[in-house]
Amino acid sequence: MDGPVPELTAHATACADRLRDADRVLLASHIDADGLTSAGIASTALERADIPFETVFCRQLDEAAVADIAATDYDTVLFTDFGSGQLDIVADHEAAGDFHPVIADHHQPADGVETEHHLNPLRFGLDGATELSGAGASYVLARALEPEGGDNRDLAALAVVGAVGDMQDSNGELHGANAGIVAEGVEAGVVEEGTDLRIYGRQTRALPKLLQYATDVRIPGISNNEAGAIEFLTELDVPCRDDDGEWKRWVDLTGDERQTLASALMRRAIASGVPANRIDDLVGTTYVLTEETEGTELRDVSEFSTLLNATARYDRADVGLAVCLGERDRALDRARRLLRNHRKNLSNGLRWVKDNGVTVEENLQWFDAGDEIRETIVGIVAGMAVGTDATRHGIPVLAFAKKEDGEVKVSSRGSYVMVKNGLDLSAVMREASRAVGGDGGGHDVAAGATIPNGEVETFIAEADRIVGEQLA
Ligand code: C5P
Ligand code: C5P
Ligand code: C5P
Ligand code: ZN
Repeated sequence: MDGPVPELTAHATACADRLRDADRVLLASHIDADGLTSAGIASTALERADIPFETVFCRQLDEAAVADIAATDYDTVLFTDFGSGQLDIVADHEAAGDFHPVIADHHQPADGVETEHHLNPLRFGLDGATELSGAGASYVLARALEPEGGDNRDLAALAVVGAVGDMQDSNGELHGANAGIVAEGVEAGVVEEGTDLRIYGRQTRALPKLLQYATDVRIPGISNNEAGAIEFLTELDVPCRDDDGEWKRWVDLTGDERQTLASALMRRAIASGVPANRIDDLVGTTYVLTEETEGTELRDVSEFSTLLNATARYDRADVGLAVCLGERDRALDRARRLLRNHRKNLSNGLRWVKDNGVTVEENLQWFDAGDEIRETIVGIVAGMAVGTDATRHGIPVLAFAKKEDGEVKVSSRGSYVMVKNGLDLSAVMREASRAVGGDGGGHDVAAGATIPNGEVETFIAEADRIVGEQLA
């Protein structure tokens, strides 16, 4: 078997064999959409392989979290969507005989250490920020874990949600190893790939809200403008309301009607002077989970991933995992309630950044939200602020927020253009945080750290210096 990602197949087989040799496994994963889907994939695969396991989630795999894991009496630990960045800590525990680690991750590995069962695309010449997510690495492992005659390709649906949750489709579609996983999902009949409007909310949002909230590509008179969005829809030769006069959603329109609406939107964008390359971003490749009910958050991979972030980032990873595992009643209701709260927090957070502005240094810009934005979502808000007029174009954004324990969380976001010019935020976060007694890591384009209270200024100066070196 070649496997969905041939470069990783041999190593995935070795990792799967090691898991089969275990009496039982502790599965540890990260609290975001990619981490939850990773756990959903890994736990389903372990169950199908008849390997007993228990699942735990951590906000960040720091020394204390690894020590907690070491204190359990599990001899084998499967880390998904984290573990690589903390390979030094994990390896120390392995050397001490605390547990044997198997890792399926895609973050930048800590320097100068390696462990035997470490499945990470970066070790095999693939890009961990754009070509394979934690859920993708877990999927490769799940394929290797298939029992005789088994077929885990249905899990490709969750792998696509994880990749999109980490924004690996931000250039318009999934590519590299991710494309191989999409192909397996299509073969298995769980994923459908198409070309469509790339606006968030195609399954669940009423048309005016869909257009009004679509701010990734700003269309003057429609974006952030309810009356404008309604007027635009009313003037179209498309029935945008149902028989009861209720607004339809994108999924309620026929193919022809969608086409008409999309074309009108593009004409309007052109007429309003939106640059051609931005207009191209309005349409792109979309992924639909065909087994899920039409008109639900679960059918669209992007809405699914936001639903998952709304659970785990608010200490309800159990709810998100249950949804990943197919629970469609209580867990889904609960997740939807959490989603309303999450959306409100994201929108309040973005407004706070706009109202308070950012401070521009030589090579980066930053804002400190203190207690105003929850530390578990400050990175999402920073990502949403990039590309709006709240931030300056061309330099990365650093965001700070207070953690419950009094330490400070840092999130950073850049763009692929900056990465091409040498930016590696993972190195910036790791080096600048270690310089002030903290720790961090992540990806070149998006990374984070935790630092002691009182070190923000020194950290910014250090980060500014490192970014300057990278972009020189
Ligand atoms: O844990 P980690 O891999 O999950 O998180 C990835 C984070 O990086 C996500 O918040 C994702 O949105 C962000 N990201 C980004 N821009 C990209 C790629 C990832 O903001 N181009
Ligand atoms: O963790 P990461 O940065 O990927 O999270 C980005 C999330 O923010 C996406 O899942 C997306 O649903 C959400 N978002 C949103 N509205 C926007 C932009 C992003 O809800 N306009
Ligand atoms: O938390 P945030 O969304 O900013 O995280 C961005 C990326 O940085 C994620 O991939 C996350 O796993 C990573 N990160 C890290 N160490 C930290 C904080 C974040 O590796 N202390
Ligand atoms: Zn991830």
